[in-house]
Amino acid sequence: MQRRQFIKWITAFGIVGSLPLWSKFVLADDFPVLPILPLLQPDGDGKIQLKLQAGETHWLPDITTKTWGINGSVPGPALRLQSGQAVTIEVINRLPEKTNLHWHGLEIPGEADGGPQAWIAPNQKGIISFTLDQPAATGWFHPHPHGRTGYQVSMGLSGLIIIEDENSSQLSLPRNWGVDDIPLVLQDRKLSKTGQIDYQLDVMTAAVGWFGDILLTNGVCYPQQVIPRGWIRLRLLNACNARSLNLAVSDGRPLYVIASDGGFLVEPVKLHELPLLPGERFEVLVDSSDGKPFDIVTLPVQQIAMTLAPFDRPLPVLRMQPSARRGSKVIPDNLAVIPAVPALAGLPERWFQLMMDPQLDMLGMQALMQRYGSQAMAGHMGHHDSIEHTASHEKTFNFSHANRINGQAFSMTQPVFDVKRGRDEKWTISGEGDMMLHPFHVHGTQYRILTENGKPPEVHRRGWKDTVRVEGARSEILVRFKHIASADSPYMAHCHVLEHEDTGMMLGFTVSA
Ligand code: C2O
Ligand code: CU
Ligand code: CU
Repeated sequence: MQRRQFIKWITAFGIVGSLPLWSKFVLADDFPVLPILPLLQPDGDGKIQLKLQAGETHWLPDITTKTWGINGSVPGPALRLQSGQAVTIEVINRLPEKTNLHWHGLEIPGEADGGPQAWIAPNQKGIISFTLDQPAATGWFHPHPHGRTGYQVSMGLSGLIIIEDENSSQLSLPRNWGVDDIPLVLQDRKLSKTGQIDYQLDVMTAAVGWFGDILLTNGVCYPQQVIPRGWIRLRLLNACNARSLNLAVSDGRPLYVIASDGGFLVEPVKLHELPLLPGERFEVLVDSSDGKPFDIVTLPVQQIAMTLAPFDRPLPVLRMQPSARRGSKVIPDNLAVIPAVPALAGLPERWFQLMMDPQLDMLGMQALMQRYGSQAMAGHMGHHDSIEHTASHEKTFNFSHANRINGQAFSMTQPVFDVKRGRDEKWTISGEGDMMLHPFHVHGTQYRILTENGKPPEVHRRGWKDTVRVEGARSEILVRFKHIASADSPYMAHCHVLEHEDTGMMLGFTVSA
């Protein structure tokens, strides 16, 4: 949507003073400039320092919002790492509570993975060393302390990891950071009346996830970016706690997907809409050679609680403003070699039944309806028709273990199974039993999707992935682990709706030689 049309639309529907907070962003006179995540590379000794600290951010005119950042920035920096290079990352915790960082998408040993067992106390530091041995990709990092991940991410802690290799440096792709190679970290936020981050882990968010009514792009609402005329590469990350997005271009021009979570696809895949689950990354190319400005938008999705305004219509994410400067004109036909999926007969199999306590489902839906009305239900009324009449046990119900996998809520001390290193396994994740979205993520591996929510995966979801859609049906993935994860630093497999994860929909497992 054009900014002017958008302003016309909101002014037509009410007096500006009575508008919700999110609309004030859009009414600001000028487009803010898109902040570019600072690139951070290892120094001569292979070291990187990340300081997690409290700070302030100005999201609203005249209001100071307390945030948590990394080296002062919200969202944090983009680490650029070379495959094959040894790195040591020093994570310094200057926050008032324990934290840690997990390197989402990296195939590194359990002791470097940053799972919930690896926490760092306030005023302490953690030293993490690893050597990447995986192809070029866009990963990310965020805190992972059990029960607090949702809160700490909502406060601003996250950043990108750009992995480069020989292939990525030879492909003729846009690679000018912040010019034609543009990181886009997308997060919704909810602010209180005083402009502070309004995070709650309660029966409602444990059921549907925490969501907001503002969409931030690299920490700013509906910014603009001046771009050359030619191919523009966008590195998209859905860093929302719970919200799935559906990206498109305002004038209908296509997006060409070149990479998924774990690296390049075989060839670019042309799409007009690109759904993006929490935790997922895709790299896309968009052609601006006609010189016309356009918007990247997110289209409405059918996810419970995510249909409320302003997400009930196309919402602008970024204004693209082509300049007179000429950019890159060609893109490669072939991007990478991805092996065929091997024969599945005889592979070890595992079953993951995702479960929500029926009481949580009911109380959560009830709280959602009471706070937001039936518009929040995304058409999923079904067995919730009568929820307005059920008695409320919201106050006494303990939701902290109400989300489970195979009947078990997450245990900090009990890994659930052991996988042999280097062996293929077929995992089936079932979301049968509720209609909630569960983006299922596995640490320590890039896997292949065999079936996704009961269907063959779409073409752009057939490459390396670490997150799969599970929503009322089954998904099957083919996993393999290159590294060891011992019982004191197990890998995690979990739902990436952070409030589901924080209330138990996660398990730890080990990998042995
Ligand atoms: Cu991005 Cu265990 O998660
Ligand atoms: Cu991860
Ligand atoms: Cu979930």
